Amino acid sequence: MTISASSPIGIFDSGIGGLTVVKAVQALLPSERIIYFGDTARVPYGSKSQVTIRRYAQDDTGILMKYQPKMIIVACNTVSALALDIVEQVGKGVPVLGVLAAGAELAVRHSRNSHIGIIGTQATTLSNAYSFAINAIDPDIEVFSTACPLLVPFAEEGFINHPAARMIAQEYLAELLARKIDTLVLGCTHYPILKEMIGDIAGPDIHIIDSAEAVAAKAGQTLAENGLLNDSEIPVSPHLLVSDLPQKFKTLCRLFLGNDIPDVELVEV
Ligand code: DGL
Repeated sequence: MTISASSPIGIFDSGIGGLTVVKAVQALLPSERIIYFGDTARVPYGSKSQVTIRRYAQDDTGILMKYQPKMIIVACNTVSALALDIVEQVGKGVPVLGVLAAGAELAVRHSRNSHIGIIGTQATTLSNAYSFAINAIDPDIEVFSTACPLLVPFAEEGFINHPAARMIAQEYLAELLARKIDTLVLGCTHYPILKEMIGDIAGPDIHIIDSAEAVAAKAGQTLAENGLLNDSEIPVSPHLLVSDLPQKFKTLCRLFLGNDIPDVELVEV
């Protein structure tokens, strides 16, 4: 497999959530070709078992590898927490970046009172992967986590500021807010879609960490270090693949990426 600066960056998630990462990568590296796979047939991942999540991660990486990517970004915290090693195995030496490590690093940099809150899927919070990643950098930080599984379908439906979504988010966040956190990690890539609403509930004193921006910055840095930055001046639209309902995905894409979306291709998993 020949990798060059003009090779694409492969990005995947269980559904629409990873588009928050696509958007951040596009904003930072507009001339990079992006191949995005959203596993819309099998979303959500976060309420599945580790065995199933690892199998899905293997399939997703296999789909992206057909495009000979120069880098794979796991735009899914659940896979980053439970199956990053599988992605690396199937990726056969292609650099792999996960959103979780990037988000954890950024949270540590921002917290002043060493109380960090994490919201994520059930699988991510049960894995304690954020606590491990944060405490590996600073063992004195207290990490509090809450699973918010119901926020994923709201994001998938495009209910950005729906009163029902707000009520549920308030219920989920109450316990974390009582812990006096000063930093809140959106530990699921679907949540940045609801960022404004979550920030509103959290209040102005809590710093919200969106790991999409953190991983995009890391991607730029890694590509530069490996001499693989695409220096073309021409911005390119991402190539989008899904495993189900491409038309619905396209409609939602317009809402989140806010620009002209090329056709969404249906692939089999
Ligand atoms: N967006 C994914 C994450 O970051 C998974 C959401 C889901 O499929 O449950 O964890």
